[in-house]
Amino acid sequence: MSISRDSSGTLRLAGVSLSEVTAVTGTPAYAYDLGAMAAGARSLKDAFDGRPHLVAYALKANTAGAVVRAFAAEGCGADVVSGAELLVALACGIAPDHVVYNGVAKLDGEIDQALSTGPRGIGAILIESVEEIPRIEARALAAGRVARVGVRLNPSLDLVGATHAHIATGHDRAKFGVPRADAARAVELVEASPRLELVGMTAHVGSHFTTAQPYVDSARVLFGLVQSLRTAGRARSLRFVDTGGGFGVDYRGGEGSEGASAVPQPADFVRAARAAQQEFGLDDLALYVEPGRCLVAPHGVLLARVIQTKVTATGRWLMIDAGMNDLLRPALYQAHHRIVALEGAVDPATAIPWRVVGPVCESSDDFGEHMLPREPPSQVAILDGGAYGFTMASEYNGRQLPVEAFLRDGRILGQTRRAAVASWVEERVRAGER
Ligand code: LLP
Repeated sequence: MSISRDSSGTLRLAGVSLSEVTAVTGTPAYAYDLGAMAAGARSLKDAFDGRPHLVAYALKANTAGAVVRAFAAEGCGADVVSGAELLVALACGIAPDHVVYNGVAKLDGEIDQALSTGPRGIGAILIESVEEIPRIEARALAAGRVARVGVRLNPSLDLVGATHAHIATGHDRAKFGVPRADAARAVELVEASPRLELVGMTAHVGSHFTTAQPYVDSARVLFGLVQSLRTAGRARSLRFVDTGGGFGVDYRGGEGSEGASAVPQPADFVRAARAAQQEFGLDDLALYVEPGRCLVAPHGVLLARVIQTKVTATGRWLMIDAGMNDLLRPALYQAHHRIVALEGAVDPATAIPWRVVGPVCESSDDFGEHMLPREPPSQVAILDGGAYGFTMASEYNGRQLPVEAFLRDGRILGQTRRAAVASWVEERVRAGER
């Protein structure tokens, strides 16, 4: 945890006072601790005990260049889901060989881009349906290349209650992955094509699991399939198995009913997958994982200013200048993010419940109830905002995207610029002009 409060009550991230950050950036603003992100990647890599592996950072969690470069410097690869994410990964120093590309509906142009990157295309284009196979084959033929591909298996598990329904992917009704029943046929089609080379078998069961069990269950389905293919003399060109991302984080910071230690560490997920890989006799293959959230969520905060309070006979609201357009997770997944004052530790004896809401004209623009002083702070931090915060932000209600500040070792290394309101207005006014 890279956030702390110093003896004078000032909240610090990466050793930098967050009040100093907002003095520079204004609000709303995300701030990230790059050093803590890099350290997290290092300790995750250590969990492989020197065995062949790839930590393919899922860019969708946080695409900021400084963040991606920090992971590239630690030897991470990338999991991308669009041509644009692929360009960011490459520009930030991730080698084409270390990129895997997930996506149920890749455009022809995106497949072409993946195929033409580097001397041999990217590490693997991951196939999510039988129907996608001839499409990739045709693009490879047109490009005069052999596409390195993986088959993404849908492990068809019962995930009810395992995570939020919106982020569960490895079940029968999900659009993701090749269904278990079609997997052998998909492998057969790939192997029959001179334009495709099967290098990986993958699965991604969903996101934000707070126990390792669904992850291990999914890995075991995947490994069982690979084992039976090999027993039948198939999948000889395979070089890696990839058990996906989904390592949960403790958004309650130990305050919740589960307690801090209840959520396994990212390395625990890796060790559990490693153990299953060994058990299935697949130790000759590299193990890939695709974590996003766990590498960035705890090391980012969303900083906001309190605009005003509103106290009525029925409610007590604290209105801040960050809204659901800046951090969508509470509105979309009923996610809980802790909210604390930038200055002054909250005294539990005198704190009162405030319903913290943003300025957006939606009832779901609501960050939930938080214990804060009766005399509200002037600025607050929404914790664990490093993943799926900025990347899901929008300009809804004519709001500007939040800025981002990058911190490391007690310093603000840089920040993004806030877009001018005038340019948004001009663009909207011009829309449809002839
Ligand atoms: N690999 C694949 C194929 C994925 O679809 C995802 C996430 C990941 C890896 C990374 O999963 P992670 O390690 O971050 O859990 N917006 C939602 C999360 C959506 C996740 C989508 N796929 C949220 O804010 O909770």
